[in-house]
Amino acid sequence: MIKIKINGKEYKVKENLTILEAARQVGVEIPHLCYHPALEPEGSCRMCLVEIKGVPKLQLACSTLVKDGMEVETDNEKVREARKAVLEFLLAGHPLDCPICDKAGECKLQDYYYKYGLFEDKFEEEKPRRNKLMRIAPNLILDQERCILCTRCVRFLREITKTEELGVFNRGKESLISVYEQELVENNYSGNLVDICPVGAITDIDFRFKMRTWFLEKKKSICPLCGRGCNINIHFLPDTFPFKRERRVYRITPEPNPKINGYWICNLGRYGYHYIDNDRILVPSKRNENSEKLEEISWREFYEDIGNKIKVLIRRKKGEKIGAVVNLSLTNEEYEILKVFFKQCVPQSEIIVLGKEKGKGDNFLLTEDRNSNTRGAKKFGFIEKKIDIKKFLNNKELVIFFGHEITEHYGIQFLSEILKNIKTKVLIASNKGPLINLMDYILPSCVVAEKEGSFINCEGITQKFNRVLEPLGKSKSEIEILTSLAQKSGIWRNFLLYRRTG
Ligand code: FES
Repeated sequence: MIKIKINGKEYKVKENLTILEAARQVGVEIPHLCYHPALEPEGSCRMCLVEIKGVPKLQLACSTLVKDGMEVETDNEKVREARKAVLEFLLAGHPLDCPICDKAGECKLQDYYYKYGLFEDKFEEEKPRRNKLMRIAPNLILDQERCILCTRCVRFLREITKTEELGVFNRGKESLISVYEQELVENNYSGNLVDICPVGAITDIDFRFKMRTWFLEKKKSICPLCGRGCNINIHFLPDTFPFKRERRVYRITPEPNPKINGYWICNLGRYGYHYIDNDRILVPSKRNENSEKLEEISWREFYEDIGNKIKVLIRRKKGEKIGAVVNLSLTNEEYEILKVFFKQCVPQSEIIVLGKEKGKGDNFLLTEDRNSNTRGAKKFGFIEKKIDIKKFLNNKELVIFFGHEITEHYGIQFLSEILKNIKTKVLIASNKGPLINLMDYILPSCVVAEKEGSFINCEGITQKFNRVLEPLGKSKSEIEILTSLAQKSGIWRNFLLYRRTG
């Protein structure tokens, strides 16, 4: 540790830090645009200028290392004047189209102008005209007029994805960011360019012009779309939004976590969120025996119907006629309940475990395993195995399916044939899918964003998450569903006992 003074106050900081990082750690803000903690410093924006005692010229805090005894001023007259001049320079070439810019409300240039700029506009010349609508990726638009050439995007593609699709072209005031030879930025992590762009130069087609950022709330969660468990922020319209909401969730961004995902998320995690609001099962329903149509029922009716069936099968010592098809994306807490319900309270019942089909991994964050909690399921004894599905289903009278995963392994035609012989088929799922037409009861369950719990990721790290959104429609978590069902199934006393003793 070394001692430095920042604005007259003494601090002990680690060696080998830059002034900007050291100041950040002790809670002193130094404005910056091109600096990003995960990228090599570039020193191009000049926003981080500070005065160091004994050094005649102002220095860059983002690339100057601290030294023992160093005295730094981050907010004196000289520094403030320099900052104002830098902002004036950056804004001279900027279109100032904040009212129609998606970054407005979270733009660092806009924030810094109000905090450190507020100068009178002396600019009389024509602003430079550039391409405002350049498609640089299937998911991204570059506005070259808004770009301040901080080169964060270029460094991200050089240092993190190592794909180098963007570069700085031309010299001096003609410099601009562009793609090489019209090739697009096509890698699994391109969406991160929107987050790291400090202004509104790179915008996301999925989010562009959909919602003003200040209407959105954000809360932390865990991405459930592969085994990595990347930490994310869900940006959603709160219930208090005064106008009609078309949907709740508008975007997903990474939440930094050095142990799991650093500062990034993959495009699957970023753009795969639409399932949270679209195609949801909203109410419990039951197939009418005569008309074959699904009709809404109450949760109570479901618990009584299925609870009675389980009670009768247990009383007749036919527990083996009960089956469950469990997926690999439930929470640890839900697996614990499943274990108590089926394995301990109805030990003759049979369970099979079927996860989602493997996808393509990329040796960075995205794993081949597209299930969110394979390790958690294993911890509670739910392991995916090859089975004879016909044999499993043939002698069942009641089967509860958790999710549609079985249809990723067996054709729907084949399933409809073998499911015909089962008297009662129940589906508990958050979204509509191919199993719906084959089921007798359909129950809406919560998506991850609507419940709390924990997952164990592919590296064995347990991560807890909280509820971000209220359950849509009449959805309930699997814990609520199984607990209420246990009360009506004649296993309540054992259920409570096993829950207490584990
Ligand atoms: Fe230091 Fe840009 S943050 S020069």
